[in-house]
Amino acid sequence: MNGFDVLKDSPWWRDAVIYQIYVRSFADANGDGIGDLSGIRSRIPYLVELGIDAVWLTPFYPSPQIDHGYDVADYCDVESEYGTLDDFDSLLKDSHQAGIKVIIDIVPNHSSDKHEWFQAALNAAPGSVQRGRYLFRDGKGDNGNLPPNDWQGLFGGPAWTRVTEADGQKGQWYLHLFTPEQPDFDWRNIEVREYFEGVLRFWLDRGVDGFRIDVAHGMIKDPALPDIGDNTAELLEYRAQPMWDQEEVHEIYRQWHRVLAEYPGDRMAVAEAWVQPASRAARYVRSDELSQNFNFDFLCSTWNADEFRRVINSSIAAVDEVGAPASWVFNNHDVVRSVDRFALGLIGGRGGSRLNRQGDPSELDVELGRKRARAGALLMLALPGGAYIYQGEELALPEVRDIPESALSDPIWTRSGHTDPGRDGCRVPLPWTASPAAAHGFAEDSQLSPTESWLPQPNWWGDFAADLQASDETSALNMYRNALQIRHDHPGLGDGKISWLPSADQVLMFERAGGFICLVNFGSEEVSLPESTSVILSSTPLVGSGVPMDTAVWLQRE
Ligand code: GLC
Ligand code: CA
Repeated sequence: MNGFDVLKDSPWWRDAVIYQIYVRSFADANGDGIGDLSGIRSRIPYLVELGIDAVWLTPFYPSPQIDHGYDVADYCDVESEYGTLDDFDSLLKDSHQAGIKVIIDIVPNHSSDKHEWFQAALNAAPGSVQRGRYLFRDGKGDNGNLPPNDWQGLFGGPAWTRVTEADGQKGQWYLHLFTPEQPDFDWRNIEVREYFEGVLRFWLDRGVDGFRIDVAHGMIKDPALPDIGDNTAELLEYRAQPMWDQEEVHEIYRQWHRVLAEYPGDRMAVAEAWVQPASRAARYVRSDELSQNFNFDFLCSTWNADEFRRVINSSIAAVDEVGAPASWVFNNHDVVRSVDRFALGLIGGRGGSRLNRQGDPSELDVELGRKRARAGALLMLALPGGAYIYQGEELALPEVRDIPESALSDPIWTRSGHTDPGRDGCRVPLPWTASPAAAHGFAEDSQLSPTESWLPQPNWWGDFAADLQASDETSALNMYRNALQIRHDHPGLGDGKISWLPSADQVLMFERAGGFICLVNFGSEEVSLPESTSVILSSTPLVGSGVPMDTAVWLQRE
């Protein structure tokens, strides 16, 4: 085949498979029901066996945990529930020794209201230096009784909260795109920029390999803070809004690029920027900005060949334009697990928290969803560029839809007036063992029962346990292990080009360098294997001569 160039000596992250660890729910070393850094450290062998290149750790900083760590009270320390800085250093060291890179989550759009800067701002006067680090404004209407504009928070309710001033009178308002406990910084303030440069350096000096940037498209707001005229949260998530994807946000990333470039070893940063269309999203990964941007168009795709072909083409074209690799993702801690999405055909929304959670769970065909999620994984891992796997995805875990209401803890549940259960269903602590002891092995060696972990585990959780899957050759876990091994060994996979091969309706087929072919059957009829190829891996066992529906196969040209 012509037209394939395999890039050598390129930065490690261009085609890395990065495993997202939701720290609170991965592994609990001290048996208090909450995942922690030592728990992760003890599971490094599992990660090595899985075959990932790097982990992304969700925020583990001191935090009141209103939004489970995305409300940071101190950017340069470790939450005591999760361990200590020493524990972090040990985890980093052991991961590196095992050949695993570590990227950490940085939350620069907003802090916790308990951050010392925000506390100082509350105690200071309007117009003070302290207030200038956040977005305090006078209200509108009589006595400033109305919020400065009509923006709504992404988790429901107004995006402004009014404070009480030193004289006991109602005073200014401050902006928070998320909960009131997450005040937004003013990124036009140079002090904020310098502060975060210091935060980046603090962790880079310790040896982290990169950062995942939370709400990367939201840090700069239109200075006029104009009304948007329609208060729906959905509208808030459109790019053409005064809080998203503003031109000046790119200045910040050019600055961060210079900081990262000062360090050896290809340190990287990946943006959580829910921006459309793909050509706008690609602007975050121009050569003097960030390394990667999660491909949310891909994540939001429904189970349909044409839709995937379109999204894959437009994504690749957009990043090619700026010389960046694509970064494929199906799951994270904010969205309904792909098993459920692919079975129910849920429509994608735009915001991190807002993938449509409707759909009648009683209609969910879990096995269909798991089959599709496995096929989707082989599609994703065969595409050029990097890929992200969210913990439990390798077990093809379904969403937990039956968490008792009294146990729900996502702020979306309360902020939506108990209409949206929020994101807890994809955050339930992992089932390591089929046996329920020690919360299915989540809290190894403890007395914890499955309902005592911070989010209760459902009674069906053990069916999907890692230990069961490890000993079953046909399991999702072993499929992922095999896929990652092949991806590692085959010169055509990872970075590079793809070319589509002619295929039947509802079938995707493409070729990579070195005679590698991926075929995914989205249709309802079995399709035959292309001639002169042999099967390297399939997402479900092939029994007949062809590829059954909802199945992906990896093939090698003979
Ligand atoms: C991002 C995070 C999400 C968090 C929000 C506010 O979207 O992924 O979990 O709630 O930002 O920080
Ligand atoms: Ca713990």
